Amino acid sequence: MGGESYTSPAIFEAEQEHVLEAMWFCAVRSGDLAHPGAFRKIQVGRESVLVVRGRDHELRAFLNVCRHRGAMLCTEDEGQVRRNLRCPYHAWTYGLDGKLVAAPNMASLKDASGRDIDRVEFGLVPVALREWLGYAWVCLADDPPSFEAEVMGAITERLGDPTAIDNYRIDQLEVGRRVVYDVAANWKLIVENFMECYHCATIHPELTEVLPEFKDGLAAQYFVGHGAEFGSDVSGFTIDGSAGFETLPGVAPEQDRKYYAITVRPTVFVNLVPDHIIFHRMYPMAHDRTIVECDWLYTEDVIAEGRDVSRSVELFHRVNEQDFDACERTQPAMSSRAYRHGGVLVPAEHHIAEFHNWIVGKLGNSGNEGGE
Ligand code: FES
Ligand code: FE
Repeated sequence: MGGESYTSPAIFEAEQEHVLEAMWFCAVRSGDLAHPGAFRKIQVGRESVLVVRGRDHELRAFLNVCRHRGAMLCTEDEGQVRRNLRCPYHAWTYGLDGKLVAAPNMASLKDASGRDIDRVEFGLVPVALREWLGYAWVCLADDPPSFEAEVMGAITERLGDPTAIDNYRIDQLEVGRRVVYDVAANWKLIVENFMECYHCATIHPELTEVLPEFKDGLAAQYFVGHGAEFGSDVSGFTIDGSAGFETLPGVAPEQDRKYYAITVRPTVFVNLVPDHIIFHRMYPMAHDRTIVECDWLYTEDVIAEGRDVSRSVELFHRVNEQDFDACERTQPAMSSRAYRHGGVLVPAEHHIAEFHNWIVGKLGNSGNEGGE
């Protein structure tokens, strides 16, 4: 894939339209919005989307656009309202279910055809939402693709067993730590970096101590169903290989002492280890900027007992910093004439070539400006 794919605002806009706004997008951890009236604002492609916990405790998503004159309804990234969302411009007020509940002089208002304002028709525009693995996934497409095929299928395909992910009971885990990384790199560089392991020996000294097979540069994602084995002298997935916590209750013996890495296109990476889960979500903001939110998930008991998660957090936090440094080092060179026709993929990285083909296919004609 030529360098322009990572530097062109036009290609990024095409990706927003044909990938980020067309697919299921992992938006928020459901548990972050615990109480009715809790909301979070996120960017999905070119749209601002609100995810809101209703009075009936259901999560819903809406476009963050007031139906009166189009003002952005919520400008805060997250918050908690009592019962309504009120537009700061002319005070149109929406229920947590999106319905228009009040507007100044409502009885006298007319729509463009001279009709009374209908509270449902002029409610907030709903966005499709599904909850899985404890996260709310949203889709802006008018006719969303199958969640089962697109999201669940990606995980099943990687693990090679449809029930393997269920063993970790990710929806029941709690966030022990969250780190948000603001990365000055195109989102595809981050995906490609996550898919490869050719760099592990050079930039991940701590990770390769715990997972010695990564020194050979063969990605865990290369083989379907493959989990990278912990080194024989390693007790847990921690910064110094010391013991972690008890193995998650459902984890099968063959999943113990192993690390699995899964990419769920377009923006999610999941790492499974026996005692916790590392769940990354990307928010592509511009052609050269991506926010990555990473959650470290543990059992309720580990969190309730206030046990020290820092040794396990530190391991992958360092990996993230090492990876994102590498992506930031690469991004400026994407506009060099030296990279006009792209680089080299080593044979073990055929899945990165597949990713490139997939993107090209998604963009169709609209991505031609950046075609090779
Ligand atoms: Fe929101 Fe007027 S734009 S109330
Ligand atoms: Fe890495």
